[in-house]
Amino acid sequence: MHARAFVTVAALLLGVLAEQTEQGQAALTNDTAQCAPYSISLVADAQASYPTIGSPILSIPTTDTVALAKFNAITGIPNIAPKGVNGILSADTLNNYPTTDPDCWWTSSGCLTPKASGLAADTASVPEPRTLGYGFDDGPFCSHNEFYNYLSAQNQKATMFYIGSNVMWFPLQAQRAVVDGHEICVHTWSHHNMTAFTNEGAFAELYYTMQAIKLVTGVTPQCWRPPMGDVDDRIRYIASKLNLETILWKYDSFDWKVASGQATPAQVQANYDSLISDAGAGTFDTVGAIMLTHELTNYTMQTAVDNYPKLAAAFDHLVPIAVAQNKTQPYVETNVTFPSFAAYIASRSSTGGNSTSSSGTNSSSSTGSSSSSAGSSSSSGSGSSQSGTASGSSNAGVSFRLSYAHSAIIVVTTVAGAVLVLYY
Ligand SMILES: *[C@@H]1O[C@H](CO)[C@@H](O)[C@H](O)[C@H]1NC(C)=O
Ligand SMILES: *[C@@H]1O[C@H](CO)[C@@H](O)[C@H](O)[C@H]1NC(C)=O
Ligand SMILES: *[C@@H]1O[C@H](CO)[C@@H](O)[C@H](O)[C@H]1NC(C)=O
Ligand SMILES: *[C@@H]1O[C@H](CO)[C@@H](O)[C@H](O)[C@H]1NC(C)=O
Ligand SMILES: *[C@@H]1O[C@H](CO)[C@@H](O)[C@H](O)[C@H]1NC(C)=O
Ligand SMILES: *[C@@H]1O[C@H](CO)[C@@H](O)[C@H](O)[C@H]1NC(C)=O
Ligand SMILES: *[C@@H]1O[C@H](CO)[C@@H](O)[C@H](O)[C@H]1NC(C)=O
Ligand SMILES: [Zn+2]
Repeated sequence: MHARAFVTVAALLLGVLAEQTEQGQAALTNDTAQCAPYSISLVADAQASYPTIGSPILSIPTTDTVALAKFNAITGIPNIAPKGVNGILSADTLNNYPTTDPDCWWTSSGCLTPKASGLAADTASVPEPRTLGYGFDDGPFCSHNEFYNYLSAQNQKATMFYIGSNVMWFPLQAQRAVVDGHEICVHTWSHHNMTAFTNEGAFAELYYTMQAIKLVTGVTPQCWRPPMGDVDDRIRYIASKLNLETILWKYDSFDWKVASGQATPAQVQANYDSLISDAGAGTFDTVGAIMLTHELTNYTMQTAVDNYPKLAAAFDHLVPIAVAQNKTQPYVETNVTFPSFAAYIASRSSTGGNSTSSSGTNSSSSTGSSSSSAGSSSSSGSGSSQSGTASGSSNAGVSFRLSYAHSAIIVVTTVAGAVLVLYY
């Protein structure tokens, strides 16, 4: 906490001389300042080898021989035609699709159990009873600090389904999720309907999001959620070849609909209340729940905050999805570990479920000192690149250690992007 205040002061003194840091960005509470475009060398240096940020990826760049080889090595993709063009669904395809649902197309039928052989069923609930697999789609949203501060104050971790383009636009916000102990899953590069891409486009939307998350946070997810839930057996197969588990939901808050006027806040609250009353009625006594909620607007995040105490009272446990699955190594990198379900629960009960009852043991305080030195290294102006590290162990037992390269040169803001504000 003190470290964050220190970094903020240091950043003010250094002005544009210092490259922004995760800790500096995380300390901002002014929404306009949080969303101001910035550039960090980690992303700027790599950007040329990534597809266009914010646009659907239609093919793998011909220069990326690694990605091309990986794609070309995939055989046996179910012979299902794309259901639209360039990520845009065709209304005719949807209207004329057989009710027999040959492709297990969620958008048409809500199908979660693939018809093609060899594919795992989608995850739409969590195995731990009376437990909510707690997560948010569409981040990293630029002004998410008040929301993440709240989660940290509750010592609550969640699963964040990140859009690759948003990770490239707001890498420091993405780093915060890992520093705070949240789990990261893939939510595609450009947030289009995945069944409306070619095989290559669908592969690329997933692959480059995995690469972006790895570049920025150091970890490679092994889970993904299709935007709009749009998945069929062809897309499931491609995702499975990237070792991505497909995660859907059975409850939808429809919080994303409020921004476009398709739903009222009262309707969204009724959806939260319905999940809460089902929990009270014993619906999750054998299998836990997943509800679709978003890190998308101030409204969706504030609604999550407002409902947190009610959810925490209705369920025995609110945990990231990996934790509810006992996945202690959720990422490709096996050196980043999560607590087992039992360990997560034990660590929360030992702190009263809440960091406020113990002092100095939350992730912010444990990362603060090492990160402030990383931040100050950027003032040297030598033009050389230094490496800063943040490491620690959060209250709920999530271990992490991140390495960020801090280039000690003057960085002029060049990013002209905006957060992808897309719904679902
Ligand atoms: C928030 O930051 C913006 C620019 O970053 C500034 O113009 C505005 O005055 C700030 N608002 C407050 C309340 O500090
Ligand atoms: C994706 O499909 C949904 C229907 O599930 C539709 O509402 C939405 O407009 C589609 N978006 C695109 C980009 O095709
Ligand atoms: C960390 O804990 C301190 C109290 O020890 C609290 O004031 C602070 O808000 C917490 N920070 C986070 C990010 O949880
Ligand atoms: C939403 O905006 C209000 C007003 O700016 C602010 O007080 C609140 O902290 C924000 N909530 C979240 C979760 O960002
Ligand atoms: C998680 O592990 C605990 C014991 O370590 C076990 O009781 C529980 O059933 C496991 N849950 C899952 C979903 O594997
Ligand atoms: C955590 O502590 C805060 C501040 O004391 C309190 O408002 C909140 O209700 C607590 N949450 C839980 C789940 O106990
Ligand atoms: C984890 O291992 C990878 C190599 O597999 C390495 O690049 C990375 O720095 C390590 N991360 C941590 C947090 O130690
Ligand atoms: Zn989404």
